[in-house]
Amino acid sequence: MSTDALTFPADFTFGVATSSYQVEGGIENDWAEWERAGKLKEPDVRCGRAVDHWHRYEEDYGLATDVGATAFRISLEWARIEPERGRYDAVALEAYRERLLKMKARGLRPVVTLHHFTHPAWFHRETPWHQPASVDAFRQYARRCAELLEGLDALVISFNEPMVLLLGGYLQGAIPPGIADGALTMRAMENLVRAHVASREELLARLGRVELGISQNTLAFAPDRWWHPLDRALVRLGAQAYNHAFHEALVTGKLRVNMPGVASTRVDIPGARDSVEFIGVNYYTRAHLRFVPRPPFIEFKYRDILGRGLTDIGWEDWPEGFLQSLREVKRYGLPVWITENGIDDRAGERRPHYLHTHLAQVLAARRLGVDVRGYLYWSLLDNFEWLEGWGPRFGLYHVDFDTLERRPTPACDYFRAVATSRRLVAPATQAPLASQPSAAR
Ligand code: FCB
Repeated sequence: MSTDALTFPADFTFGVATSSYQVEGGIENDWAEWERAGKLKEPDVRCGRAVDHWHRYEEDYGLATDVGATAFRISLEWARIEPERGRYDAVALEAYRERLLKMKARGLRPVVTLHHFTHPAWFHRETPWHQPASVDAFRQYARRCAELLEGLDALVISFNEPMVLLLGGYLQGAIPPGIADGALTMRAMENLVRAHVASREELLARLGRVELGISQNTLAFAPDRWWHPLDRALVRLGAQAYNHAFHEALVTGKLRVNMPGVASTRVDIPGARDSVEFIGVNYYTRAHLRFVPRPPFIEFKYRDILGRGLTDIGWEDWPEGFLQSLREVKRYGLPVWITENGIDDRAGERRPHYLHTHLAQVLAARRLGVDVRGYLYWSLLDNFEWLEGWGPRFGLYHVDFDTLERRPTPACDYFRAVATSRRLVAPATQAPLASQPSAAR
């Protein structure tokens, strides 16, 4: 391979990603209620103080710059900013503003998510996503977020993984608000697109210009039985609905979902056309789909076909799918940001290899003309992993969940070497084979 094939351009951004609920601590919201209702995998588990990023943020910015990061993704916690409907908390707003200014002053470009899965507890009772009032509720919140972002040149993400929110919260009922209804899922999806448009209007009104997108969880789909026409049809329909329906709506203004027997919609959303400046891709794994002859007709599996070993959370390590996903978003003709990519590696030994193989796919995608501008590793720190709780470890830094001490894993040296040299060097050690998967999400 020539030198160029291994080199990231000088303006390519290496950064790290986090989300408020998973790291900050001390947040009272819908997810905290969900925990108290005993809905996590282990009913007694609580997020609580998380990893206390709320008080240790300056130390954490230092950890990010130590590995050569120049961008830091956070999310704003709606429940802190608007704890009661219509009451905005000046202290929380000031605290976020100060954090963002300090981040910027340390050479970290803020990447700011307005909504990363969680809501104030009042939201689902008063203005849930399937009701039209949700759009204005989000607009009012986004107006305060816009004030926080003035003068920061932030990259802004309106919604993190809206498809995961919809599938988990509205179709399966596994996460808040715990609804399981295909028709309501589609109403909620339409309102999420409208809410994105409303937030864009608020950001533009305050900031004049904005670099806005969504972070889309992107799966590489494959048929469980390669020869089976129904498995193959599911892959086609599923990839379109799961990976592309949101991006497409925000580029063309047309929201189209066609999952017969599950959920479908066809609606044009005013203002949605050309409402993003970039495509945000979160990539982790491949999913095999199998048709089953009863609702919801889809079985979903992570398989270890090549014997690489599943990751500790039970996901397939499939870097090839990263290239496939990046090639697929080329059709939108927009810059692409990898807003998350990472591995649950509890021993901390496989991560350098994972980074190496996945970054190689980013370079391959660039060579094929996909305009990838940056890569944000999920996550800077081990943190609270939603329904899984405290088992998974995605962090570049290991966190002792008792003392909250942060310790570099071997991936810190590797990430720094690549981020600062901009060369895709090989990791010092080869990947050990995975331990047995301990969990499946
Ligand atoms: C993504 C979420 C993120 C984290 C990673 C592991 O789907 O956006 O918050 O949980 O998975």
